[in-house]
Amino acid sequence: MEGVTVVDHPLVQHKLTLMRDKNRSTKGFRQLLNEVGRLLCYEVTRDLPLEKVEIETPLEKMMAPRVAGKKLVLAPILRAGEGFLEGMLDLVPSARVAHIGIYRDPQTLQAVEYYFKAPPDVAERLVIVLDPMLATANSAVAAIERLKARDVKDIRFVCLLAAPEGIKRLREAHPDVKIWTAAVDSHLNDHGYIVPGLGDAGDRIYGTK
Ligand code: URA
Repeated sequence: MEGVTVVDHPLVQHKLTLMRDKNRSTKGFRQLLNEVGRLLCYEVTRDLPLEKVEIETPLEKMMAPRVAGKKLVLAPILRAGEGFLEGMLDLVPSARVAHIGIYRDPQTLQAVEYYFKAPPDVAERLVIVLDPMLATANSAVAAIERLKARDVKDIRFVCLLAAPEGIKRLREAHPDVKIWTAAVDSHLNDHGYIVPGLGDAGDRIYGTK
């Protein structure tokens, strides 16, 4: 699939299976999302450019690589995207965070924005948009539109599960935005849920159902 990386690492697949289980506790689900977040972060940052800097080890001076350019921005779509944040920040602790408040109207399935707060120089940074479930892609498309309206040019999208419908919609709306996911499921049902999926990610992270 053009523009889509399925992270098929055995640890990711194992943890995803544990998360799909309807009997997994809220605590367990949240912990696993953290762990998978870390692993997906590792993959989505795999090609970050490096630059050489001079440092001094206890033995001698050397030119050593470090990540070049401005710190990246993690942009969770509230509220489920926040479940990814902690694990990702474990790997890139100096990343900036942009919060994007978008919810899916349960009737229309359309994206409704209620909050947006990003670093002032977000346009000059790589922004990684986070949402565990790429279902209709309404929220993802809307969140990325909001970022592009602020001149952000370098955007990636990370989710845990994607539906083929969501991938198609996101790739058509924003062909420049590549997607990383742990799995691509069968389809969306009439209520916009990913099948077989794992249910409502927000409810499962926060224990609200
Ligand atoms: N959002 C969820 O949390 N779960 C789905 O299956 C689809 C969208």
